[in-house]
Amino acid sequence: MPATLLVLLSLSFTCVWSLTLPQLLFRDAKVVVAHFIVGNTYNLTVDNWISDISLASSKGIDGFALNIGSDPWQHARVADAYSAALKTTFKLFLSFDMTSFPCSKPEDAAVLQKYIQDYASHPNQLSSSGKVLVSTFGGEHCTFGSKNVDEGWTSVVRKVGLPLEHFIPSFFIDPVGLSSLSVIDGAFNWRASWPAGNDDITFDPDEEWIRNLGGADYMAGVSPWFFTHYGKTSHNKNFVLRGDDWLVVRRWEVLVENRGKIVIVQIVTWNDFGESSYVGPIEGVQPQSQAWTNGYNNHFDWLDLMSYFIQAFKTGDYPPIVEDRLFMWAKLFPTAAMTLDPVGKPGHADYLQDYLWGVVFLMAPAQVTLACGSHSIPVLLPPGIRGLALPLVSSCNAEGIISRAGVEIVHLRPRNFAFRTTPQAYNYNAFVAASPSSHGTGKLALTPL
Ligand SMILES: *[C@@H]1O[C@H](CO)[C@@H](O)[C@H](O)[C@H]1NC(C)=O
Repeated sequence: MPATLLVLLSLSFTCVWSLTLPQLLFRDAKVVVAHFIVGNTYNLTVDNWISDISLASSKGIDGFALNIGSDPWQHARVADAYSAALKTTFKLFLSFDMTSFPCSKPEDAAVLQKYIQDYASHPNQLSSSGKVLVSTFGGEHCTFGSKNVDEGWTSVVRKVGLPLEHFIPSFFIDPVGLSSLSVIDGAFNWRASWPAGNDDITFDPDEEWIRNLGGADYMAGVSPWFFTHYGKTSHNKNFVLRGDDWLVVRRWEVLVENRGKIVIVQIVTWNDFGESSYVGPIEGVQPQSQAWTNGYNNHFDWLDLMSYFIQAFKTGDYPPIVEDRLFMWAKLFPTAAMTLDPVGKPGHADYLQDYLWGVVFLMAPAQVTLACGSHSIPVLLPPGIRGLALPLVSSCNAEGIISRAGVEIVHLRPRNFAFRTTPQAYNYNAFVAASPSSHGTGKLALTPL
């Protein structure tokens, strides 16, 4: 083919592209969003939303999935979120929490439809080819008075008079059932954010969903941690999922490797303090989770760590490392320790081992030391990204050092990062820390080998 023809072809392609790209269309771009629990925002102001949007954007996050529950006041917070986004390119979409909304009668559809109608034409609504993205948490049992779930959800999102929806629910089902759901345009596999049991994270559960989706959109989850601790008289959920072995990094690596099969990544979560998976600020009204968040810093350093992988997921290339940095996290009490905590020991507590987890980004070979009290392990590491783990055996304060040619480059000694062998209660939330970035709050620019 003559060179001039090639140029013409690519020019006309460029024209078409720019004409049909009025906004972020997730069919054409890799999108990363974070799950935002509106139920924890009772007293947040528009300014809080503006600052959360600004923080998320600075880390490469494109939007929030607004997890909405049935409290009537949540309408006003959703309105605040959309108005806070107005002067930005940040996107929002509705994710109905079906553990909160009733969904057994035909009239239960109305409140969901009203929400969709209210924001369908908002400039910050996340859409695919003009179709409004609608998602859920759960809802796999909802019939809305129809004879089955497929017809039930069809009566909600395909009802005449509503704008066209692109429906990507997070149903908790055997993925084999996905192919018989004509109402869905894709699926979000919430649970695959963590290993199913006491195993390493893989893409296998994702693959199973993708196979059963037959080309429909796949939304993948990623999460740094999971610990929830509510007694029988409260939400009655008390268990951990396995966050060991640098879950957040290993999950992102798997997502980057399989990025061709993923349309959207959803970070689980921005602010679920109740499940310790938050990476945004601790703010608003906590869901009675103070027992495991008080005395802990926020998890911003995980957010910062994620920003590097977000860039890699979007572009397909790991950015170069331009700064030596150290990230560390750990639960602060031994798994085996017993307490008088009336809520009792969390289920699967044994999935979490007593380790200080470290991740280091190195521009050049360096000596890296994780230490706690007198216990330390120095290792010489090549440039790139490496995970380190230090067993925690006695009460101590966590530290991390990067040195090169005998000169300390990083000395991380976070206040309150104290491992204690005699807990008063079962608290397996993670304490998270990192050496500061000289690149401000912006994206990290680092790379693995
Ligand atoms: C919201 O309420 C919580 C709990 O009462 C309080 O700690 C927090 O400071 C309040 N936040 C705002 C923005 O008013």
